[in-house]
Amino acid sequence: MSKLTAAITAVGSYVPNFVMTNEMLEKLVDTNDEWITSRTGIKERRILKKEEGEGTSYLAIKAAEDLIRKKNINPDEIDLVLVATATPDSMVASTAAFVASEIGAKNAFAYDLLAACSSFLFGMSTASSYIESGRYKKILLIGADKMSSIINYEDRTTCIIFGDGAGAVLFEPNTEGLGLQDEYLRADGNGRKFLGMIAGGSMHPATHETIDAHQHYIYQDGKSVFKFAVSNMADVAEKIMVRNDLKNTDVSWLVPHQANKRIIDATANRMGLDASKVLMNIQRYGNTTSATLPLLLADFESKFKKGDNLVFAAFGGGFTWGSIYLKWAY
Ligand code: UT7
Repeated sequence: MSKLTAAITAVGSYVPNFVMTNEMLEKLVDTNDEWITSRTGIKERRILKKEEGEGTSYLAIKAAEDLIRKKNINPDEIDLVLVATATPDSMVASTAAFVASEIGAKNAFAYDLLAACSSFLFGMSTASSYIESGRYKKILLIGADKMSSIINYEDRTTCIIFGDGAGAVLFEPNTEGLGLQDEYLRADGNGRKFLGMIAGGSMHPATHETIDAHQHYIYQDGKSVFKFAVSNMADVAEKIMVRNDLKNTDVSWLVPHQANKRIIDATANRMGLDASKVLMNIQRYGNTTSATLPLLLADFESKFKKGDNLVFAAFGGGFTWGSIYLKWAY
């Protein structure tokens, strides 16, 4: 019997309606379109307004429904719903459980997965391992974040970067050798001082003082994170190529986390890739944390061919980072 691999067989996505442009941010903080564009590549991002919907689950459900509609599957068949997110609806109760119920996946179990901007990448590893084990046949992996819920729109160092969005993929068994081929995943807890949210968790529960000190917003030492991200994302992408004997001409597409165009360019450079093979939509969505990778898959799905070699790379808070090599299956 041929080896069971885990392939992506469908994608879906959703971004909220409200578009926040660089010009709008110029009115909120001391910044300008030229600075944001040249330092990050971002032109606009989407924000989930209360009038449209509330919570990360709203985005996740929309992305999952898009996939279910396109693939025309019965939600009853889904075995597991994973929601990769850094902004769950609330503490304790699983956001994924709510999403699974809302989309009608009544035979599924469901849980959240948190590894900051690497959440979706690590989720690909989790979903694939379950499929390869032979225990489950349909796993819905959703990357969703409502970053606007933890952004201080008076802090120009973070509010220009992040946006809201969601993307979903379906993992299924494959016997043609397609799907996930290899992964190289890493973490370093020393990184948490450079990027995170101080209060609201078990270490610093919410108090009047934490609120007054703005500790329920994301903080980032951008320069330090940038240095770690540039070297680590390029390192792991190169490692995956060497380990799998992939030349630059063998790589069909680089699917990089969308944190900063300069980080993406540096990774592509190290891999020796032509810009035409580098997937990018940061200009339209900014950094949507767990949603960047599936949003790329959804936006560029029509360009992929069966057997294409995709190299994913991400870097995020924690620190967490890694690379995955996957053969496209349809
Ligand atoms: O996805 C999770 C991982 N996150 C990342 O990978 C993000 C990594 N970091 C970055 O992308 C970049 O560091 C930023 C985009 C956050 C910042 O770019 P930078 O080139 O590292 O700028 P900087 O922080 O070194 O700031 C340069 C200057 C400073 O002014 P002075 O000290 O030179 O006078 C900042 O105060 O730019 C100033 N600045 C701004 N100016 C206009 C900082 N933010 C802004 C702003 N508009 N929004």
